[in-house]
Amino acid sequence: MRDFLKRLPKAELHLHIEGSLEPELMFALAERNGVALPYASVEEVRAAYDFQDLQSFLNLYYQGMGVLRTAEDFHDLAMDYFRRAHAEGVVHVEMHFDPQAHLVRGIELPVVMEGLSLARRHAERELGLSTALIMAFLRDRNAAEAMAVLEQAAPYWEMLDAVGLDSAERGNPPAKFVEVFERAARLGIPRVAHAGEEGPPEYIREALDLLDVCRIDHGVRCLEDPELVTRLRDEGMVLTVCPLSNVRLRVVERLADHPLPQLLEAGLRVTLNSDDPAYFGGGLLTNYLACHEAFGWSEEIFIQLAGTAIESAFVSDRRRLALR
Ligand code: HPA
Ligand code: ZN
Repeated sequence: MRDFLKRLPKAELHLHIEGSLEPELMFALAERNGVALPYASVEEVRAAYDFQDLQSFLNLYYQGMGVLRTAEDFHDLAMDYFRRAHAEGVVHVEMHFDPQAHLVRGIELPVVMEGLSLARRHAERELGLSTALIMAFLRDRNAAEAMAVLEQAAPYWEMLDAVGLDSAERGNPPAKFVEVFERAARLGIPRVAHAGEEGPPEYIREALDLLDVCRIDHGVRCLEDPELVTRLRDEGMVLTVCPLSNVRLRVVERLADHPLPQLLEAGLRVTLNSDDPAYFGGGLLTNYLACHEAFGWSEEIFIQLAGTAIESAFVSDRRRLALR
């Protein structure tokens, strides 16, 4: 099965590029930039990744990205991930990035964009990997700031495949960002949003009704609302589910308890994703393998899951055909 899953052409639709920062690179960049780390070794870093919930992860996630300072750092971060993904049989990567998390540290948007853009070109040329870029707004900060970031990104609007919504979900409903997402819609930029990871099914409804998203990131809590499940199925809405993330952030206790089988049973369009691979125990292949172990799924199910990701990826029809 490992060989089969490795060879299967896989697309990653839900990845935070800052969450792909492995402790080894964190140390290398800390040294290069003279940034002090609160850890003595990579082992100590990994030992600290024992999360209680989303917020306890986010605290270390925002701390870890403090080593990213130059365009070269962002390039190296993304290339490091692209190489690992390529080695796992990933053929297409859609990466979220969090401009506000860098702006608050004094790292300007052009620095981030230059580094990530260069890495995307390298990945395409050296690895034959296609990529897409999703600029995410931090939902635990105010909407005016998100709007300002969207306007500031004007030189890069053409390069954005979508905007997204991430960070601490509870108490920060999609409704807070209606105007920002309306502005993105008028600009012709597609929209996705995290909803129903820790937040209630109502947040999934809001993301659909108020933000007009074309995919829901996570969405696993939809099962608490049967009418919503019917709607998601009828609309063919894609959920970008992140199995190992949900275990590590204690959305579920064990992978065997994960609602993935029920989501498939309900006829929903589900994809598997790694979310923050450096923090949650592995990349896309590791997530596929863990699901095989937990659910005993056949090759056909994995072909379906990988196919759904390619169907709903932000790529041209021409590239979509090449990905299969
Ligand atoms: N959830 C919400 N926000 C995030 C995550 C996540 O798993 N990773 C990075 N930002
Ligand atoms: Zn996420």
